[in-house]
Amino acid sequence: MADITPRRVLGIETSCDETSAAVVYGTPTDMRLESLVILSQDVHRLFGGVVPEIASRQHLTGIVPAVRTALADANTTLRDLDAIAVTHAPGLVGALLVGTSYAKALGCTHNTPVVPVHHLEGHLFATLLEHPEATPPFTALLVSGGHTLLLDVEAWGRYRLLGQTRDDAAGEAFDKVAKLLGLPYPGGRHIEALARDAVAPSQTHPHRFARPMLRKSAKPGDDDYYDCSFSGLKTAVLYAVRAAEQGGVFNEQRGSIARGFQDSLIDTLAEKVARAARVHRRTRVVLGGGVACNEALQHAIRDRIAPRGTLFAPMPRLATDNAAMIAAAGLFRYHAGERADPTLTAQASLPIPGIFS
Ligand code: KG4
Ligand code: ZN
Repeated sequence: MADITPRRVLGIETSCDETSAAVVYGTPTDMRLESLVILSQDVHRLFGGVVPEIASRQHLTGIVPAVRTALADANTTLRDLDAIAVTHAPGLVGALLVGTSYAKALGCTHNTPVVPVHHLEGHLFATLLEHPEATPPFTALLVSGGHTLLLDVEAWGRYRLLGQTRDDAAGEAFDKVAKLLGLPYPGGRHIEALARDAVAPSQTHPHRFARPMLRKSAKPGDDDYYDCSFSGLKTAVLYAVRAAEQGGVFNEQRGSIARGFQDSLIDTLAEKVARAARVHRRTRVVLGGGVACNEALQHAIRDRIAPRGTLFAPMPRLATDNAAMIAAAGLFRYHAGERADPTLTAQASLPIPGIFS
């Protein structure tokens, strides 16, 4: 019989440019967030992207105060923890190493088991902390700076891969287009803000960009039924930017280009999600990853899965990288009996445990 005793788990996340620690208490079906600390590394803005070496150094200085504060905010101590969950993959190896080494040292010193967590499985659990109904079976769209995955989640730990991006991740496309439009890094929320005030380009308008990999006649089983591709869209934006610059109307047209780009990307993602929910007869859709913050994306998916489907999107603090989602996934993995051995180390890339196609 499965162990259903409530447990207290410290989560640690250092896979990219957020140093984060959190405490979650409960069981895989009933958990609550007791504290969450996120130290965001603003320094990368100066470079227009994450500089791995700087990220590792900042994790080194941030990890101890982040964990201390998370424990204090949760009114708990290291002795009261049942487990330490830590992101071990995928991500920047130097950044991940800070988290895994620290978790192993803490675990060893306090005789606390360490549970390795896959970052993307963490994103799948984030919504659960806010919406207890966001449980399998559901259709999941994970859209972050590094990944775009469409999954059918039959049960926690059983993830059927339906589709993914063939080139740029959705967040990466947002960030690259933001750069073309002269917006700060990371650019997703700046594009969303710019697009919000712009008029949607009409069918014949030059900023109405083609919807990538969205053949109306596509059928389940076709290669392009669920997959996405955003690099062609990015090139179309580049040409639009050049044309606007040459015409001396770049400033006036920035909003329209941002809106055209966002509409095209969202239309594609929303249609793929609706196809997955329809084919697998899922009434729940769960979003994860930084791009899940995008309200236009949320509206578009809600529209397409109505009236039967319900969309669950995490609040921005839980959508972008954070340790609460790592603690939540860690709680599930702990109850499933998973424990790290002393050889645990960081891995730059690794499939999500339990993924199949
Ligand atoms: O999940 P996340 O915090 O980090 C990764 O694991 O990559 O995602 C960061 C990504 C960035 O590409 C950022 O531009 C994007 O999420 N993002 C958004 C929005 N907020 C963050 N993209 C579109 N609209 C937003 N509102
Ligand atoms: Zn992430």
